[in-house]
Amino acid sequence: MTTREFPPDFLWGAAAAAYQIEGAVDADGRTPSIWDTFTRLPGAILNGDDADAACEHYDRMPQDVALMKELGLASYRFSTAWPRICPDGGPVNQAGLDFYRRLVDELLGAGIVPWLTLYHWDLPQALEDTGGWTRRDTADRFLDYAMAVYDALGDRVDHWTTHNEPWCSAFMGYTGGGHAPGRQEGVAGVVAAHHLLLGHGLFVDEFRRRGGTPEQGKAVGITLNPTVADPFDPTRAADVEAARRLDGFHNRVFLEPLFRGRYADDLAGDTDGMLFAGRPWQDAVHDGDLQLISAPLDFLGVNFYHGDVPAALPYDAEPGELLGSRIEHATRPRQSPYPGGGFVFPRTGRPTTDRDWEIDPDAFTRLLVRLRDEYAVPPVYITENGAMANDVVEDGAIHDAGRREYIEQHLHALRDAMDKGVDVRGYFVWSLMDNFEWSYGYAHRFGLVHVDFATQVRTLKDSARWFAEMAARNALCQ
Ligand code: FCB
Repeated sequence: MTTREFPPDFLWGAAAAAYQIEGAVDADGRTPSIWDTFTRLPGAILNGDDADAACEHYDRMPQDVALMKELGLASYRFSTAWPRICPDGGPVNQAGLDFYRRLVDELLGAGIVPWLTLYHWDLPQALEDTGGWTRRDTADRFLDYAMAVYDALGDRVDHWTTHNEPWCSAFMGYTGGGHAPGRQEGVAGVVAAHHLLLGHGLFVDEFRRRGGTPEQGKAVGITLNPTVADPFDPTRAADVEAARRLDGFHNRVFLEPLFRGRYADDLAGDTDGMLFAGRPWQDAVHDGDLQLISAPLDFLGVNFYHGDVPAALPYDAEPGELLGSRIEHATRPRQSPYPGGGFVFPRTGRPTTDRDWEIDPDAFTRLLVRLRDEYAVPPVYITENGAMANDVVEDGAIHDAGRREYIEQHLHALRDAMDKGVDVRGYFVWSLMDNFEWSYGYAHRFGLVHVDFATQVRTLKDSARWFAEMAARNALCQ
């Protein structure tokens, strides 16, 4: 058996997010976020689930950190909850911050590097009530909140991520409506994207001002979920055009401002004549914004799950149909998350995970190479990758061979990208444990650790043991 090694300081970890695991939604002064509201909309969440209890991580945190230690994780990626720390988007609530002080102490005590994300989708509802991410002021409120976290934890946390997948916050939240706050307002997604990026830029600026530099051992970045956009039929001009639009609305709308300090020209063309609140989205972009947004970063977080192969209509699908929509999902009507809609994702015949996401590890390699070649991105950390599986508990064990295989294939694809010279420094599995999987509720399990939501009992799956061994070896076997 030969092995395929990773560099000695490669960071192995697992990820989770506040709203998906914490529960305790009323504890210690927390107020509702947009997800607390959204989960109560009829048909918004599969099976009518809510995250009021989730994994009860807020109360079980020390045991969960002990599990991470048992798995030998070098790092844990988590997010802080804005509505705990600045309830209603207002002044700082020390009781809410205390939970994260305890978490970071527990992690450091266990020798685990805390990898902190400031925004994993839980905007205080009170800020949504005044316009949410379509309002410029929300970026300033984000800075207030982010600096409260930095003031409390900046001495002990070295890795800071502003946003997780702002594409989802902006386009699923404000254009498609499949995610909170569930608005379906066309080009509002682009306005929201700009304000999310502005909040990011404001934080990076302040972080540097306070001495947050690699020389001081501090790093700041953002996590995106860029995708490939492979035309379904590359010889069909309409499919090539669908791929261009997907690339624009999904990738370049973030990559261009972050790494080139501009918005791409074709985005203007694709949104021509579309107005939000009676104005084109470009009115949201003020002088100086793009300079802030394009300040150099220390790392780029990349989340990757599946390839994307768009086609123009007509194909055997509804306009805007997404991968995964052929399985049971929430019933609340949603729109295409791409302003103007107009394309679909037909089957390519590739194998899928149990969520029906097509498995395409080669796309992962190509994507990483492209990010390096076209955008000269800073060092990359894979901040999420993993598989949903309909796990079965048999005699207290979970033999999730499919998840293990998925992760292994993607680690090979990642190693291929590194062989091509892409600077990848770490990998976080999504997820540490089964959790509240947004609009899919508890039915969609991604964890290395199984959670019985009736009893809150945690059980290591086979994939967890395999991942722990592989990380300890720092090498894949082939
Ligand atoms: C990503 C999210 C994460 C989780 C995975 C499956 O889009 O960032 O919270 O839901 O998908």
